[in-house]
Amino acid sequence: MVVETVAVAIWAMLPAYIPNNVAVLAGGGRPIDGGRTLDDDNRALGDGKTWRGTAVGTAAGVALALLLNRVHPFVSGVVAAEPFPIAAAVSLSFGAMLGDILASFIKRRTGRRRGAVLPGVDQLDFVVVSLLLTAVVATGWFLDTFTLPVVVAVVVLTPLLHVGTNALAYAVGLKDEPW
Ligand code: CTP
Ligand code: MG
Repeated sequence: MVVETVAVAIWAMLPAYIPNNVAVLAGGGRPIDGGRTLDDDNRALGDGKTWRGTAVGTAAGVALALLLNRVHPFVSGVVAAEPFPIAAAVSLSFGAMLGDILASFIKRRTGRRRGAVLPGVDQLDFVVVSLLLTAVVATGWFLDTFTLPVVVAVVVLTPLLHVGTNALAYAVGLKDEPW
């Protein structure tokens, strides 16, 4: 059923969806690249990727996965997903932050300034890395949860959710750009 597939997709991806949004709220302080530029004279990552944003974002994603595991007994009839193993909680959350960081690295190498858009990459960078990392560190859970229809649902829904939440964050003044 489509509804069940979508429910599993959103449920299982929540620990990957939250970190970047929390990073927007918690970000600031020392940038990960320490202000360094590479040979192309562009910043390695830029001021938009900070230690604090990354740490707090990752912690929030892990905390959410643990919270969802508490709720799981009550929703297991509705959302056919197994509880998050701790390895998956960490890989979904940290993988999402890592994907976003890698995207910034690519953006800087291609001369895009901080905040520039890179359609497609911006919306799916964190999905690809969080899923790959989870497939490696929590393989059994990953294969049980991310069936092909669920992966398709994630790839279709994530850009929509991403664009929606970013537009909202911009509208209420939390982000400098609406993407
Ligand atoms: N942020 C952070 N650490 C991260 C990711 C995000 O501190 N690892 C915070 C920063 O304050 C950043 C904001 O969240 O400015 C928005 O994140 P994002 O859109 O990913 O960064 P941009 O500033 O747009 O920079 P980039 O062009 O590198 O994506
Ligand atoms: Mg950005």
